[in-house]
Amino acid sequence: MDTLQDKVIVVTGAGSGIGQAMAVAFARAGAKIVAADVQADALGATVADLHAMGADVHSVTCDVSDEAAVNAMAAATMARFGAVHVVCNNAGVAGNGDPWFGPIAPWQWTMGVNFWGVVYGVRAFLPLIIGSGGGHIVNTASLAGLIPGFAASYDASKHAVVAITEDLYLTMRTAGLPIGVSCLCPGWVRTGILESDRNWPAGMGEMPQRDAAAEVMRGHVKRAIDEGLPPAAVADLVVDSVLADRFWVFPHADWVSGPILARWHRIAEGENPEPSEETPGLPPRAQIMAEVMAALGAS
Ligand SMILES: NC(=O)c1ccc[n+]([C@@H]2O[C@H](COP(=O)([O-])OP(=O)(O)OC[C@H]3O[C@@H](n4cnc5c(N)ncnc54)[C@H](O)[C@@H]3O)[C@@H](O)[C@H]2O)c1
Repeated sequence: MDTLQDKVIVVTGAGSGIGQAMAVAFARAGAKIVAADVQADALGATVADLHAMGADVHSVTCDVSDEAAVNAMAAATMARFGAVHVVCNNAGVAGNGDPWFGPIAPWQWTMGVNFWGVVYGVRAFLPLIIGSGGGHIVNTASLAGLIPGFAASYDASKHAVVAITEDLYLTMRTAGLPIGVSCLCPGWVRTGILESDRNWPAGMGEMPQRDAAAEVMRGHVKRAIDEGLPPAAVADLVVDSVLADRFWVFPHADWVSGPILARWHRIAEGENPEPSEETPGLPPRAQIMAEVMAALGAS
């Protein structure tokens, strides 16, 4: 896209973190914003910030794991602005609980928001973007979509987002449609993702608690996130990528040239997976393992 001036941009998960920063960055570039989130109070704060900037904003409280709600958000976008040009399917959660021995609900929640939310978003908005003369879709995946080892349900949801986003790009190219596609794969970013439980749906029953080992890991991940990139830096990269029609959006290039490339070399050689001894932002694996064993009383 040549310009974002007066274009209509939809951002899900706009109440916090990367989504909030994207809404601000697109507004700064002159766009009209549809800000969507399931958390009404956080969404209200973002909308107040956007109004203070003088932006033209429409706010939609929407659970992206609910197809009817996403379709209603698309209808509301057209009713308010009459067109839509860029959609950022960004809302995401990271759930608790053991993937194999715990309840199934965290899988359903994580896949519902991170995976189905993206599928519903693309399906609802793609025909409308085409009808508006073309535009761009940005799906927020993660480096966890390129290398497993964070948490099984989160990794699965993000690998799926990488796959469908690449499929979408190839389809748009093959069909010759004027739709750019970007796949955002951040590493650690200073956001509220570790407090995702605040939006745990009451209908899913009791929220699973973290065990001692998970608490150890959470402490290290929290530090990595607190020391991570500011969301505004990621948002600026997204805006640049839309304007430059760039598919891969990698705010943490060192991960790609390091552990992710190493994984792909192992795959190419047919070697079994190996846990990374060093993960950017985290202490060495041996230290984490020792702390986990101590927390479990097994040291
Ligand atoms: N922060 C990181 O280190 C990091 C790294 C890689 C990828 N990501 C991805 O970035 C995206 C944004 O997350 P963030 O880090 O800004 O976290 P965040 O918690 O600060 O923001 C996520 C937003 O999504 C909203 N949300 C949650 N469930 C929703 C639902 N069902 N429907 C609509 N909105 C919902 C939340 O209310 C929140 O405002 C997510 O997809 C996340 O997986 C984050």
